[in-house]
Amino acid sequence: MDYLLALDQGTSSSRSIVFDARGRLVAQAQREFTQHYPQPGWVEHDAMEIWQSQLATAREAIAKAGLRAQDIRSIGITNQRETTVLWNRATGQPIHAAIVWQDRRTEPLCARLRDDGHEALFRQRTGLLLDPYFSGTKLAWLLDHVPGAREMAERGELAFGTMDSWLVWQLTGGEVHATDVSNASRTLMFDVHQNRWDEELLALLNIPACLLPEVHPSAHHFGQTASSLLGAALSIGGIAGDQQAALFGQGCFRAGMAKNTYGTGCFMLMHTGGRFERSVNGLITTSAAQVSSRPEYALEGSVFIGGAVVQWLRDGLHAIKSSSEVQALAASVPDAGGVMLVPAFTGLGAPYWNPEARGAIVGLSRGSSMAHIARAALESIAFQSAALLQAMSRDAVAAGGEPVSELRVDGGACVNDLLMQFQADLLGIRVVRPRVIETTALGAACLAGLSSGLYAGLDELSGQWQAERVFEPAMSRERAAELMAQWERAVRQTVAR
Ligand code: G3P
Repeated sequence: MDYLLALDQGTSSSRSIVFDARGRLVAQAQREFTQHYPQPGWVEHDAMEIWQSQLATAREAIAKAGLRAQDIRSIGITNQRETTVLWNRATGQPIHAAIVWQDRRTEPLCARLRDDGHEALFRQRTGLLLDPYFSGTKLAWLLDHVPGAREMAERGELAFGTMDSWLVWQLTGGEVHATDVSNASRTLMFDVHQNRWDEELLALLNIPACLLPEVHPSAHHFGQTASSLLGAALSIGGIAGDQQAALFGQGCFRAGMAKNTYGTGCFMLMHTGGRFERSVNGLITTSAAQVSSRPEYALEGSVFIGGAVVQWLRDGLHAIKSSSEVQALAASVPDAGGVMLVPAFTGLGAPYWNPEARGAIVGLSRGSSMAHIARAALESIAFQSAALLQAMSRDAVAAGGEPVSELRVDGGACVNDLLMQFQADLLGIRVVRPRVIETTALGAACLAGLSSGLYAGLDELSGQWQAERVFEPAMSRERAAELMAQWERAVRQTVAR
């Protein structure tokens, strides 16, 4: 009974990972599912396809680990956040495709709420901005556009959830409708100070409260899986949104500890302890994974195009045949030779927030080669992350705290040593890569391990976390400042058109 199963329901695939009690990865399984783009700016998922893919990977991972379901002590769920599902409580069927976090269709509603002067209230209660990214306006859109939805909702026949709630509903055979604080904090409907749904915000969004799941701490016994699904009734002992789960899996439990996940985009979170910090540098405030009813927070910023810039080198420029070739090409030159690439393909996120910005390559000379461009592309991931971390440190100092002193890294692109070294050089702080880079899934497993008594507390988990490699800054601070200034100049060129 000393194994934990993490269900990691991401934007492009569903994965399941079995961990042993010491947090070592035992087996994993993964399935991609279909992305739907019905109109420009719209992104949808089939919630049923997601459920089927998640269940299949859970079964496969247990089988690959050579375990029986009874060997699993508890399940932790982590998920793409904000993606919105609305389903019929009687049939368990979604009444519409899920609206994905990337979907921009609700910008007109956000603009209306902003114009009516409501942003300050949403900001204060939820820590978020009025942006289509978050679930609240997506749910309002479903109620207004799916025929009969609002009437059904008012009769109590429908249930809303992000992917965690949807999976819990399916796993428990419709017995449990619940979520955790970290997912609830991404909906625009949740008061993160009181840890409860907010009636005033619900009224502004015109959303009936009977749609909403119960909210619990992230480490909590949420329910039992129906025994027919995995071969035994298993406890669901933890839930957290994927970025908060990664923060937890990185052992960042205290104020000032930060992590950056290098995926298609990059998500950087800094724990701020029990203090709700308001950023003056373009970051949002969010609930961290919580092990008790005591609120805990993080500051968060995201880079829209992170590892995706490598895909663009491959598929757009045909500079490389596979993504793994990028390190060798970039390392074939000593530096980017003055070339700066700003991958503002879909605008710029925090701390710039400019949806109109578009990408640029600047600083080309006669001697510039594809290798310089590839190096500049890789470096752009580090530049954007450095701008975020600097914003975080400024916020921390403004709130009377210390600047961030170490960055823990995870996600696919953190295996790139060149990128990690450059990141440390720019930041002037240690960049630390852990042994287990599947920190999102590990975080969910740790939450389940805590609530099921496998772990005594956070100290035990901190002791278990291990670094695989530390990248120490080697560049002079003057040179780093010069490079950051060059980067900022290049960014300005992408917005001044
Ligand atoms: O907020 C969106 C985020 O949770 C998505 O993460 O890893 O599925 O792209 P990912």
